[in-house]
Amino acid sequence: VPDPWPFPDAQLTLLANPNSPSGTTVSPKGLERLVDSLSGPLVLDEAYVDFADRHNLDLARRPKVIVTRSLSKSYALAGIRFGYAVADAALTRELIKVKDSYNCDVLSLAAATAALEDQDYLQRTRALILATRARLTQDLQALGFEVCPSQANFIWCRRSDHPVKPIYEELKRRMILIRYMAYEGYGDGLRISIGTDAEIDRLCQELKQMM
Ligand SMILES: Cc1ncc(COP(=O)(O)O)c(C=O)c1O
Repeated sequence: VPDPWPFPDAQLTLLANPNSPSGTTVSPKGLERLVDSLSGPLVLDEAYVDFADRHNLDLARRPKVIVTRSLSKSYALAGIRFGYAVADAALTRELIKVKDSYNCDVLSLAAATAALEDQDYLQRTRALILATRARLTQDLQALGFEVCPSQANFIWCRRSDHPVKPIYEELKRRMILIRYMAYEGYGDGLRISIGTDAEIDRLCQELKQMM
């Protein structure tokens, strides 16, 4: 996060933390500094936070911070389209004024409640993903990729010696789908979601053949 923040008067600021596609996080001090410098509300998007070392839900105690979460990632429930926001009561009252009159459907509410109650399952899948993330990071580094330390359920990697778009295209030809992303003024890279061990084994095998 740039310090000083370049748009302190924005009417709304959104920050994904962990970020996508880099998988990086802003430190609690950096977040405090950002909140202090803004005149408008900050939406702190914690969609990937269950894969990170820490969360920042406490920031929702500040009057102008809204922390949002999604059940699409760590709970693997993208199909129920369920998320929630945590914010100060006064700010929440303002949000309710502009909210659609209908609430979430009863089936998604039931599924979300059951998922949130099953924290053992969440912790087991989280542990699997973090272990595979560490292994994939090492394997990619051994293959010459520069890997951004990830706090999410994907890895962002780049190469300085080789264009990465052909790698994405060749993997696609071999029926392995990852994301290729390019940003003006920054360059491009590959975002690889952490799959099952078998999927990651297959990805590493194909990459070894290709590199
Ligand atoms: C950073 C970030 N925030 C929020 C979302 C929203 O997820 P959903 O609309 O499935 O809850 C995504 C989905 O990819 C995301 O990448």
